[in-house]
Amino acid sequence: MCGIVGYIGNQSAAPILLDGLKKLEYRGYDSAGIAVMNNRTISVNKVSGRIANLCEKTNDGKNVKGCIGIGHTRWATHGAPTDINAHPHLSNDGRFAVVHNGIIENYIDLREKLIENGYHFESQTDTEVIVHLIEKYYDGDLKKAVLKVASKLEGSYAIGVVCADEPDKIVAVREYSPLLIGVGIDENFFASDVTALVSHTRNVIYLEDGEFAEITKDEVSVFDSTGKKVEKTVSRINWDIQAAEKGGFEHFMLKEINEQPGAVKATITPRIKDDTIDFSESNLNDLDVNNISKIIITACGSAYYAGCAGKYVLERLCRIPVQVELASELRYSDPLIDNKTLLIVISQSGETADTIAAMRECKERGAKTIAIVNVVGSTIAKIADHTIYTWAGPEIAVATTKGYTTQLSILYLLSLFIGKKLGKVDDSQYAEYLDEIKSLPKNIQASLDMNPAIPAIAKKYHNAKALFFIGRNTDYAVALEAALKMKEISYIHAESYAAGELKHGTIALIDDHQPVIALCCNEALFEKTISNIVEVKARGAEVLAVSFEDNQKTAAIADDVITLPRVNTIFSSAVEIIPLQLLAYYVAKENGCDIDKPKNLAKSVTVE
Ligand code: G6P
Repeated sequence: MCGIVGYIGNQSAAPILLDGLKKLEYRGYDSAGIAVMNNRTISVNKVSGRIANLCEKTNDGKNVKGCIGIGHTRWATHGAPTDINAHPHLSNDGRFAVVHNGIIENYIDLREKLIENGYHFESQTDTEVIVHLIEKYYDGDLKKAVLKVASKLEGSYAIGVVCADEPDKIVAVREYSPLLIGVGIDENFFASDVTALVSHTRNVIYLEDGEFAEITKDEVSVFDSTGKKVEKTVSRINWDIQAAEKGGFEHFMLKEINEQPGAVKATITPRIKDDTIDFSESNLNDLDVNNISKIIITACGSAYYAGCAGKYVLERLCRIPVQVELASELRYSDPLIDNKTLLIVISQSGETADTIAAMRECKERGAKTIAIVNVVGSTIAKIADHTIYTWAGPEIAVATTKGYTTQLSILYLLSLFIGKKLGKVDDSQYAEYLDEIKSLPKNIQASLDMNPAIPAIAKKYHNAKALFFIGRNTDYAVALEAALKMKEISYIHAESYAAGELKHGTIALIDDHQPVIALCCNEALFEKTISNIVEVKARGAEVLAVSFEDNQKTAAIADDVITLPRVNTIFSSAVEIIPLQLLAYYVAKENGCDIDKPKNLAKSVTVE
């Protein structure tokens, strides 16, 4: 989704802004622009399409003079992705330029009033009202004008503003949209995402909702929404830029798929001390589990599917009812929640707008909240009563892989932790299950290594019009994520079906050579899934089975087989998804797709 970046210092701003925007490309965008100020004149360059076009237009920024500027990648919401709708937007008098992430919900009213007052609009965006309002309210103090404008805006925003009359500063403000300041020496930065600044500084200040920053090259001052100064701590980012680069892999997605053994290890190891699960870092060791009557898991996209897989494990080990709810639905469902509800919120970015809103809604109704989040200091991490970080490192590819498996590994630990506390898991099961969780990195590595035929299988299936993924129980949960991976990066229509539902309609879609990917790792239901394979094969389907390596039966019945090391079914999802991520990757590659930046998608969906 939209990304913003800003620079003020002694260096030429444009190349730094362009570099920052490139680092934000992964979030998803369809146009980009920069505004740079020199001798009290603001010059704006913006283009639809890729940042490469902007680099070409500005000769990699060399044609743009000035040491202060703001930049933006836009993911169109209000108005098509055209040059004119791209940010930054300029005021009518050319003295102010603005970049904005988020949505201004009351922009139509504001726009009408501004037009009545004689302001002229160039674009169809909601953002343009901001810059005209700043011009309207400016009386020589940019911070004061932005403060006033923010009080008139409804919706979500992270905004950066430069003003020709105050050429030594940038003013930034956030409300429900991520924004952080990078603190350098003789230079400072701001961005919606740490990846845009980490090559310049690892010292950052996270802004809270309603806070403003006045950024000069030597100083960063932060204020609350009343204009009162706020003391902020400077946090240190503990990963470097290599972690956000491709490291020899053709795509970030392939790199991140291969990083999963390490990411899962980094996520589980600190939570296991002396063969006991320890969540003291999240203040969870004293969680009153006897006061939980139900668990709701909420999230969006793959994080939601991690929740679907986690439900089986939580219910099995804790014997507490678990509901998994899409955050965009839960927030408007007038949910039945009381102080005996445990809400588990899952989000890689920690900034997904619907997830944040659902969480706030449930918190207000008394739920206790545990967040499973990857981005340190993100909004969800801050709002939750307890935050458990997945230590996956930066995830750049839009399609999540290591985000999903690290979320699952935390759900496994949490299930075992709560189950033990409730007395639903005895000591010997606890030891056995914990060993199983500890073996995840090894088993994920094995499933990466054991399928060299996947690129060849991808060649066989890449022309399919549709792909069907079937499975039962934990296999069905993995099928949901596998189908999402396939459609989001290869653009092939992919659907997941609970295998037992086939006969209730879906089987009508099966005919000669229709590929069906059958997930067969749930031991207890194996024979049932085999029957479903037989049914689709009888109607001409080509079946690719996913099963444990020592399973002879699937090899005999399916056309192709992808294998995994044998693992306990309870914890199989995090291993089973691996070859299916690879399959989606290689199918997308065969089809020449833009794998890391699929069309129309955004990494972090910060608007509703
Ligand atoms: C977007 C991403 C998905 C992600 C979902 C939820 O759709 O493309 O990969 O699963 O948002 O994001 P979150 O950051 O909350 O996990």
